[in-house]
Amino acid sequence: MQNTRSRRALGTSATPGQDSGAAGKKPSASDTPQPASTGSTKRSLTFAIGGIVALLGVTSYTLLRQPTPADVAAQSKPAPSSTQTALESVATKHGDALKKLDGLSTKERREEAKRLGLLTAEEVNAVLYAKENSWVIEPTSGGARLRVDTNQVSSNAPIEDYLAWTPLASNASNRHMFSVFDGHAGYRCAEQLAARMGPMLDKSLDFVAQLAELKKGGKKPEIEAGDKALVKTIRQIEREAGLDWDQVPLALTATFINMDYELVAGALAEFRKQQQLMRMDELLGPAVSGSCGLVAVVDTEAKEVVVANTGDSRALLGVRLKNGSWKAVRLSQDQTADNANEVARMAREHPGEDAVIHRGRVLGGLMPTRAFGDCRYKWPLEAQQDLFPVLYSRGHRYATTPPNYVTPPYVTARPVIVKHLLSDEDKFIVIASDGLYDQMTDAEVIGSVSQWYEAHNRKDASTLTTEDDNAATHLIRAALSTDHSSRRQSDKNIRRLLAIPPPHSRRFRDDISVTIVTLNAE
Ligand SMILES: *[C@@H]1O[C@H](CO)[C@@H](O)[C@H](O)[C@H]1NC(C)=O
Ligand SMILES: *[C@@H]1O[C@H](CO)[C@@H](O)[C@H](O)[C@H]1NC(C)=O
Repeated sequence: MQNTRSRRALGTSATPGQDSGAAGKKPSASDTPQPASTGSTKRSLTFAIGGIVALLGVTSYTLLRQPTPADVAAQSKPAPSSTQTALESVATKHGDALKKLDGLSTKERREEAKRLGLLTAEEVNAVLYAKENSWVIEPTSGGARLRVDTNQVSSNAPIEDYLAWTPLASNASNRHMFSVFDGHAGYRCAEQLAARMGPMLDKSLDFVAQLAELKKGGKKPEIEAGDKALVKTIRQIEREAGLDWDQVPLALTATFINMDYELVAGALAEFRKQQQLMRMDELLGPAVSGSCGLVAVVDTEAKEVVVANTGDSRALLGVRLKNGSWKAVRLSQDQTADNANEVARMAREHPGEDAVIHRGRVLGGLMPTRAFGDCRYKWPLEAQQDLFPVLYSRGHRYATTPPNYVTPPYVTARPVIVKHLLSDEDKFIVIASDGLYDQMTDAEVIGSVSQWYEAHNRKDASTLTTEDDNAATHLIRAALSTDHSSRRQSDKNIRRLLAIPPPHSRRFRDDISVTIVTLNAE
C-alpha cells in the first residue's frame, strides 16, 4: 500500500474507537462551546487553530499560543472589509436556508438542500480566505527552508478540527511538528490535543534523548513529579518493543499513549479524587468526546519525516519524478474497518466477540479503530455506570455505554508510525483530516497541489499561475469543486456546497483542515 523508500510500521495492539459518520458525526454532544483555553507551558510555541463560531458556519480561528515573530515570517493578514461584507451575506443566506430546511423531513431536507441558491464567487472566496494562513520557516545552519500553508473550511458548528504547529526545541532546531486533530462527538478532545501535544512531544523527545545518554553512562535525567508518568511510558514501550527504537518514533508513541492516559484515565482518577461537580465538564468533557490525531515531525537536517497516526486523517508526500510527472506516496495508514490489519488486531484482542466490528464500526459506533478520548470505549463498565448518567444529564450525549461492552478498552490511541527519508524528489507534504479525502483521491490531491507547486516554485514557470496563492486554499477549492461522478471540477459545485448551512451541511461534506509543508521552498 505504501511505497516509501524507507519506513517502518511500528503499530501495535491496543484498542481504538470513535463515532464518526452516520452514527459518529451526528451533531455532537451539546457541550457548550467555551473559549479555547491554553493550559500548558508558556515556552511552547504551539499554535492551534480551531473552534469558536464567528458567523453561521464560518469559523474564526483562535491562536491558543502566539508564535513569536521570529518563528513565523508571515502571519495571517486581517480580512479586507469586502470579505467581511461577503461573509455577512453568507450568514444571511445560511439563515434564510435554515428557515427553509427546518420543519422538513430528513429526506425532503436532503432534496431541498440541493436546490438552495448558489453562493456568488465573492462569497465563496470570502469563506475560503477567512482562515487561510501561510508562513516561511527559515532554517538554522544545516537545515532547509520550509513554507507552510494552512486552511480550514468548517461543516460542523463549531468546527471539530484543529491544526497545530510547533518548532521542536529540545535538540535540533530544524525539527518541527505539524499536526491535525479531527474531533468527533464534540470538539473538546481535539482542542486539548492541539494545545498539549507540542509541549508534551517536546518533553518526550528530550527524555528519550536523555535516557539514551544514560545507557551510555550519561547522567540521570531529572524528572519532575508531573513528568513521571511520561517517562514510565517511554521506558515501558521501549521494553515491550524489545529492540532499539529510533528516538522520534519512540517519543511520538509514548506521547500519544501518555496524552490519552491523561485525558481518559487520569481525568477520571482526578475527578474521583476531587468529587467536584463544578469541574466535571472541564475534566471529563475531553474524555467523553474523541479525536483522531496525526502528528508529523519534519527534520530538514536529518532529512527525515516521521508520522504518527491514530485514526483516519492522512499524510501524503508529493514526489516529482525526474521526468516531471508526480506521484502520491502515503505517509500514514488509515485505521478503520477498511484496514484488514486493524480488523485482525481487534479480533485478536477481543477473541470470540463477533460484534467488535459491527457495520464497519467499533461495536457498531466508532468509525476509526484508534482514537484519543472516547471513554465510552475505554472506561471500565463500573466507571461508566457510575458517571455516565450524570454526564448525560449535563448534556454530554455520548456518555452512553455501547452494546456488547464486555472487554474494554476497545479503542487505543497508540499510533502507527511511518518513517521516511527525504530525497530531492520529495517536494511537499499534505496533512489533512478525512474531510479532504472524502472529496478527493490521493492522486487528485497530489495533482492539485503539484499545479500550485509548479506555479510557485519553478523559475521557468512564470507563465503558470493559480487563482489562490495559498496552497491549502488552492487544494480545498479543488476538493469542494470536484463533481462526485464526473471527477471534473466546476465552480458550481463549491458554490452549491457552501450554500448549505450547518448542521445540514454535514450530510454533504465534513470539516476540512489542510496543512501543506513545502520542502526546500524557494
Ligand atoms: C541531538 O543533536 C546532536 C548534535 O546535532 C546529535 O548528535 C544527537 O544525536 C541529537 N540527539 C537527538 C535526540 O536527536
Ligand atoms: C515518468 O516515469 C514514471 C515512472 O518511471 C512513469 O510511470 C511515468 O509514466 C513517466 N511519465 C512521463 C510523462 O513520461
